[in-house]
Amino acid sequence: MPHAIIAGTGRYLPDNILTNHDLEKMVQTSNQWIVERTGIQERRIAGKDVSASDLAVPAAKKALAAAGVAPEEVDLILVGTSTPDMFFPSTACFVQAKLGCVNAAAFDMLAACSGWVYGMSVANAFIRGGQHKTVLVIGAEVYSHILNWEDRATCVLFGDGAGAVVLKASDTADGILAANIFSDGSKSELLFAPGGGSRSRFTPELVAEKRYTLAMVGNSTFKIAVKMMADAATKAMKENNVTPADIKLVIPHQANLRIINAVAKQLGMPEEHFFSNLQKYGNTAAASIPIALDEALEQGLVAKGDLVLMVTFGGGFTWGSLLVRL
Ligand code: ACO
Repeated sequence: MPHAIIAGTGRYLPDNILTNHDLEKMVQTSNQWIVERTGIQERRIAGKDVSASDLAVPAAKKALAAAGVAPEEVDLILVGTSTPDMFFPSTACFVQAKLGCVNAAAFDMLAACSGWVYGMSVANAFIRGGQHKTVLVIGAEVYSHILNWEDRATCVLFGDGAGAVVLKASDTADGILAANIFSDGSKSELLFAPGGGSRSRFTPELVAEKRYTLAMVGNSTFKIAVKMMADAATKAMKENNVTPADIKLVIPHQANLRIINAVAKQLGMPEEHFFSNLQKYGNTAAASIPIALDEALEQGLVAKGDLVLMVTFGGGFTWGSLLVRL
């Protein structure tokens, strides 16, 4: 069976920076509260007319260039996003057209912050099964468009951005070694954007009450996230007879530094083995891990041959893990 190897990565972040001090002027919050409770110092905010595919395309172009892959060689595009350009067509179809990937099928993965890991898992299955050979897996989010900017409990947490990976079929034994995804829909109301879908259509009242925006019960989500991320990471390691000492770097979903440190503690791993860039970008949802992976490679924290563990958690609830030998 072919293995799915990471052939190239890329990221794109909007230029506009919104700092915690800027937020102090918008809602009743403080730089100190945000840094102490989350680790976040600033985040990037896309322009009002910028959509998820606008961020996805430059990230994907960089990943294709790094992989030395032409757009026509791509045979599948998966976009993890919970802020799609529109209900349909999928954001992946817009990306397909903008990139000129004329030979690619395209669809979105709607799993909130876990969307990119879900996409990697699906791409891995397609490559292992021989159905696809060259897959673009993108995480692209514009959460600034679905936040309630009057709700201090949520608007300080998120940012916009995109990350992309090119996966290729290979005869080597490297690449994705474990890809586990999970869900529990019974807790959907702890983290959701309830309005605007077929259950609660857009009406003037819904818009006035901002029910299309993200709502979260933060502290309950926090506790479940720590447990599920630690469980998913353990499963990926056990499946491959790998111990924490074998892992060069853990790249966790970038929601909260306290969550990352708690997961490290549960796994009995040093915090320094966990990558974080949420200080600069906040939580970019499905884009957070591919952005982080691209930065970790660029900074030389990981290189070819290293074992990398990626672990995610998001609305749904959804969660999962990837164990990859680069
Ligand atoms: N500034 C100042 N005070 C605030 C702010 C703010 N921005 N936000 C909340 N507070 C207040 C609250 O009102 C509360 O005040 P009270 O004690 O007077 O009631 C107090 O701070 C504590 O609030 P908590 O919500 O209990 O704070 P907590 O320590 O849990 O931190 C946070 C909140 C950062 C949201 C944390 O719970 C968290 O990170 N949760 C998990 C997020 C996550 O992982 N989400 C999953 C991925 S996202 C996705 O899938 C879309």
